[in-house]
Amino acid sequence: SFVDSAKLDELRYLHDAAVAVDAAGTIVAVEQPCDEQKARLTVLPRLGWAADAVEVHVAKPGQFFFPGFIDTHLHASQYPNVGIFGKSTLLDWLNTYTFPLEASLADPSKARQVYSRVIRKTLSHGTTCAAYYATVDVASTNLLADLCVAAGQRALVGRVCMDQLSPAYYRDESPEAALAATRASIAHISAIDPELALVRPVLTPRFAPSCSAPLMRGLGALAAEMPHLPIQTHISENTNEIALVRELFPPASTGALDDSYAAVYDAFGLLTDRTILAHGVHLSEAEADLIAARRAKVSHCPCSNSAITSGAARVRWLLDKHISCGLGTDMSGGYSPSVLEAARLAALVSRHVAMGGDEKAKLSVEEVLFLATRGGADVVGLADVVGAFAVGMHWDAQLVGLGDVNADGEVEGDRDEDNNVDVFGWETWPERVAKWVYNGDDRNTKRVWVKGRLVHERK
Ligand code: GUN
Ligand code: FE
Repeated sequence: SFVDSAKLDELRYLHDAAVAVDAAGTIVAVEQPCDEQKARLTVLPRLGWAADAVEVHVAKPGQFFFPGFIDTHLHASQYPNVGIFGKSTLLDWLNTYTFPLEASLADPSKARQVYSRVIRKTLSHGTTCAAYYATVDVASTNLLADLCVAAGQRALVGRVCMDQLSPAYYRDESPEAALAATRASIAHISAIDPELALVRPVLTPRFAPSCSAPLMRGLGALAAEMPHLPIQTHISENTNEIALVRELFPPASTGALDDSYAAVYDAFGLLTDRTILAHGVHLSEAEADLIAARRAKVSHCPCSNSAITSGAARVRWLLDKHISCGLGTDMSGGYSPSVLEAARLAALVSRHVAMGGDEKAKLSVEEVLFLATRGGADVVGLADVVGAFAVGMHWDAQLVGLGDVNADGEVEGDRDEDNNVDVFGWETWPERVAKWVYNGDDRNTKRVWVKGRLVHERK
């Protein structure tokens, strides 16, 4: 069984199906119905493959393949702090918890330990592609990219730019230094993966308050010079942050359209169709319209927005404006490494928005899973490459097991002893998927592949 998103509010179920993946990790056939015999006798010859030269994997009944999750926003460098945020809100959280930890990762052995573990942990939760922020330190940012390649995780890796309003122990010394360090990291990451097949560099102005106008102007110029590079930043997460941006960047000083946060990025050439904007909790109507006009994308981070009390982003409202949205764990503003948890929290936060009076704000299981896969793929610029099971796309997938249900629909195996989803066997497939979304975790993620390579297997 293969399950993926047909569209925003609809899952596609392909039962008794087969997917053929070539040695480069590209899907070359999707056949349904198909059993092992048909695969060997019909599909393989049609592909010109010798039956004895290929591996055929057969999943257990009741298990299903699902596209790998895309985490469109997380800070690899903050992983040791997951769960550690007290009652803080954004600006005091940054100064109290975040900057000291990020600065400490200039120590290469500490960076190696943290980055190895965040990659391993996110892979084990089915995250096949992650848009990472590292730190201002070039060497350890480059190490993160090296470790992603070694572990086989698809990733965007960004060296963080910040040259103002940050502690003296943790900031770029000048806009020029920040731009030179950014170029150095881009050069390294482009050299280890020249075709950008697995990892790619991403321009990363941390957020407007921590970037001077010359730095943002320089990054905008770099974005124009390197049109293949994505851009990632934060926007409109917290009301104090928004007030700070208004104070720091009056429109007269930037030539911005108005005094909004989105207009600041736009004035510096950073609001583009390659831009990933994290949060967007308090955007105005005009800002959302500007984001839609520029075709910039939004990473919805419900765990973080709830944990550090930023607010409830209005995802339905963004989607209705045809703004492309994905999910972000935003570790460690968010406490969980799991995109499945982000999907669950996106569903819950949307219900809080609905309880505020907008009944149609509620997101369904189908919709949050779309955000976790195809939505996220579009947000990171890989809509044609990952997020679904289609010929020409890459095999970035997870094998999900919910208890073990045999071909007759009976539950076998140990169920809730090693798994939080209690399947009785009579559930329909949409009901099983809903039980996975609301009660599943990494115990249900049996195997994970990126570009055809097995990158995680649950023991
Ligand atoms: N805004 C600027 N930096 C950060 C960060 O590290 N995390 C979050 N959630 N928001 C930010
Ligand atoms: Fe963040």
